[in-house]
Amino acid sequence: MSLVPMKELLLAAQKEHYAVGAFNCNNMEIVQAIVAAAVAEKSPVIIQASQGAIKYAGIAYIAALTRTAAESAAVPIALHLDHGTSFEQCMSCVRNGFTSVMIDGSKHGLADNIALTKKVIEVAHPLGISVEAELGKIGGTEDDIKVEEWDALFTDPDEAVHFTEATGVDALAVAIGTAHGQYKGTPKLDFERLKKIVAKVSVPLVLHGSSGVPSEAIQEAIAIGVAKVNIDTNIREAFVAASRRVLNADAGEIDPRKVLGPARDAATEIIREKIRVFGSSGKA
Ligand code: G3H
Ligand code: 13P
Ligand code: ZN
Repeated sequence: MSLVPMKELLLAAQKEHYAVGAFNCNNMEIVQAIVAAAVAEKSPVIIQASQGAIKYAGIAYIAALTRTAAESAAVPIALHLDHGTSFEQCMSCVRNGFTSVMIDGSKHGLADNIALTKKVIEVAHPLGISVEAELGKIGGTEDDIKVEEWDALFTDPDEAVHFTEATGVDALAVAIGTAHGQYKGTPKLDFERLKKIVAKVSVPLVLHGSSGVPSEAIQEAIAIGVAKVNIDTNIREAFVAASRRVLNADAGEIDPRKVLGPARDAATEIIREKIRVFGSSGKA
């Protein structure tokens, strides 16, 4: 089937209290792994590409690979820009057939974040393209943030109401204690804050930095109201570990298919596990 807007996947998830997995891709094998996992689980799925992924693979390749994968799959798939930071980046994705974009204005103050998000929505919505924004700051695990500073970066529930009403955004990424990358310890999520946001805000909420968050914590966030869960690092780990296993077993292996095939299989397996945790199996 053709690529679908992300909004419809998230509204269905929000209604039925499951979450749609949004998995980052960088190459053909990962696109294939995401789609194979979604098909095997009969689940809707979001394929997302960061600016880094677009720079690495080329936007036309990402769009064509994803479109081809979606056309041969009997599950709904959205193609989403992950952490776009400028209007121009979002427009480039719009022109290349993405069905959703994230405009991450979290490094700006509230007024500028609202203005930038509105500017993207003005173009995207008339074309049926969904828009995700971020409020609060979701850092990286490598960011050296002290515990007392951490809380100030979290999403403020009242600001979230103002932001969603002022912009008309389709999905909101919230900062509640997760971070991008490999965690050093176990992340602690601020569920009370999440409950306050859910009580006030009607749009589907997004959990970033979800690799390494215990499954029970993810499921609790979904039960409270998260409808999109982003995973990148766990795919990288599985993909590279499988490639390494092959090369460690035979340092003379020179056929890329013998290395990347098992890597693709390992990525498929971890994505299937995540889809089951998110509760979206059988929802396609
Ligand atoms: O949110 C960040 C994603 O993991 C993408 O990472 O910018 O290295 O592609 P990247
Ligand atoms: P992880 O790499 O921590 O899974 O985060 C993914 C993400 O949030 C992409 O936007
Ligand atoms: Zn993210």
